[in-house]
Amino acid sequence: MQTTAASYLTDVQNQSIPFVHRDLQEWVREMTELCTPDQVYWCDGSKEEYDNMCEKLVEKGTFIRLNPQKWPNSFACFSDPSDVARVEDRTYICSRRKEDAGPTNNWVDPREMKQTLNGLFKGCMKGRTMYVIPFSMGPVGSPLAKIGVEISDSEYVVVNMHIMTRVGTKVLDVLGTDGEFVKCLHTVGAPLETGQADVKWPCNPTTKYIVHYPEERSIVSYGSGYGGNALLGKKCLALRIASAMGREEGWLAEHMLIMGVQNPEGEKTYVAAAFPSACGKTNFAMLIPPDTMDDWKITTVGDDIAWIKPGPDGRIYAINPENGYFGVAPGTNEKTNPSAMATIRKNTIFTNVALTPDGDVWWEGLTKEPPQNLTDWQGKPWSPESGKPAAHPNSRFTVPASQCPSLDPDWENPQGVPISAFVFGGRRSTTIPLVYQAVNWNFGVYAASTMGSEMTAAAFGDIGKVRRDPFAMLPFCGYHMADYFNHWLQFGRNLPNPPRIFSVNWFRKDAQGRFLWPGFGDNMRVLKWIVQRVRGKASAIESPIGWMPRYDDMDWTGLDFSEADFERIMEIDCEAWKTEVLAHEELFGRMYDKLPREFFYMRELLLSSLWRSPAHWGLEPERA
Ligand code: GTP
Ligand code: SPV
Ligand code: MN
Repeated sequence: MQTTAASYLTDVQNQSIPFVHRDLQEWVREMTELCTPDQVYWCDGSKEEYDNMCEKLVEKGTFIRLNPQKWPNSFACFSDPSDVARVEDRTYICSRRKEDAGPTNNWVDPREMKQTLNGLFKGCMKGRTMYVIPFSMGPVGSPLAKIGVEISDSEYVVVNMHIMTRVGTKVLDVLGTDGEFVKCLHTVGAPLETGQADVKWPCNPTTKYIVHYPEERSIVSYGSGYGGNALLGKKCLALRIASAMGREEGWLAEHMLIMGVQNPEGEKTYVAAAFPSACGKTNFAMLIPPDTMDDWKITTVGDDIAWIKPGPDGRIYAINPENGYFGVAPGTNEKTNPSAMATIRKNTIFTNVALTPDGDVWWEGLTKEPPQNLTDWQGKPWSPESGKPAAHPNSRFTVPASQCPSLDPDWENPQGVPISAFVFGGRRSTTIPLVYQAVNWNFGVYAASTMGSEMTAAAFGDIGKVRRDPFAMLPFCGYHMADYFNHWLQFGRNLPNPPRIFSVNWFRKDAQGRFLWPGFGDNMRVLKWIVQRVRGKASAIESPIGWMPRYDDMDWTGLDFSEADFERIMEIDCEAWKTEVLAHEELFGRMYDKLPREFFYMRELLLSSLWRSPAHWGLEPERA
């Protein structure tokens, strides 16, 4: 439904608009007056709407239609070089009190922030259409779902929201006349003067704000059109705002994939795993076991976000609030992730990948040799001699989850799937072993809280530097990080038999900088040990940091990985670990006032165990 802004305002005044959610109507009216768009358009979520919008993006030059033989109904686009990833230094949690945002979030007094943003939003949609996008995070009508409405002046946002969330009139129906929704206001921050031609990727190259008001449960985003900055259902609502809701309401919103693991006996175990951005969630969620383990089957519930709630039976249940994948392109190929390759075969939007002259796409790692005559992600001719990547390292695909061949039959179950294990993993070239199991819930929470990872291109920052990334939530926790740790501890206290917690590291390297672990499909070997531990079917030995498999506790059929290789990747170097544990202090020092008491004791206990000689580990294997 599209009208001019002027007639929209008259219609509201005359109350001649058919559906009535007074709050929503009033907010849209206010935003129309503030942003002064030329038109107002209410998204209905239909396929025609999607197709028309894509066509419009092609006409504007934002989208390039890919070769329909190779990539049916798929598009590529290049963003502005200033707008390629989340902007953590421009992301704010504007709670009323600074201490509620905590030391790991940027904070500005909400009154001051509103003044700044009001100034920026005045007339910000001039010359553009204002889209009103009602969306549901989680299956429409599910008791675990939450509704948001995004106002945006970007067609790119509309089509990506169509894929990543459930959009449209059906959401307004659930909202009714007084349902709750999260207000999500977005502009690219690039008004058009009368007669001014638009650019292919409008954004504000100098001013960006990604702002959350957790008490009001609202979001305002200015100046960026990319990914998590602009698709406000994802990181902003489903993680930052939802984590704050979850704290109040007794549930968890996590940066986690959810997968089903079916053993040869047909028993299914659901696992949720948190890895930082661009550290392998999509790959793990769609894992295909090696040929010799093909009696194990992996199914995908989600690849990025999990909402987790206790059920009436004492177990915990998780849903994936998303409807699609916004996945990292580089490194994805038929070997590393055949399911993702099958998923993106049609109806996909590629952002910042490279293009061939015949409408094909390419990125680093897709094939060994790049094809001839590539156009790089900035739209310029590219050759390997340039020394620069052809696709941006954070280039991504947006694709409907329904196209994933490994999709779990219960992925849209409104009640969620039962979770039996949590897995945490960062990108660490040293110190952290391939896998270990925390001795109990509290030690698991400690391990997740102190997780470190080498930074990737998914956000601006020092690539490669280790930073503490608690629960892979550092950029996504909508409140004080130490309150979040306490919330996790409390969550476990309330469960009669809390899930087991594991730590993994696919990224350990040798002295020459080569990965010690083959990764990808072979991660099944680690996963098998994990789910067998959960089911009481695998043994382990005690190490200073937790339970670990011995060489013979893991399945090595079909892989040339010697006991010596295993020792190398499992090694606990006590000196390195002492340094590691001392480094936790850096995180703790920043949130000393609210840090759980348990953490101080657990740190001391860890340090004290590191004085044990490795020769004493595990002489008595613990039988599960
Ligand atoms: P976000 O969408 O940013 O939250 O990230 P994600 O965790 O879903 O990232 P994704 O799965 O797309 O990770 C992509 C990067 O991880 C690529 O560079 C992959 O090559 C690399 N990767 C994934 N799994 C493995 C693995 O088992 N071993 C190694 N060495 N690299 C891996
Ligand atoms: C991440 O950075 O963790 C992502 C991509 O999943 S974005 O949605 O852009 O945040
Ligand atoms: Mn993510």
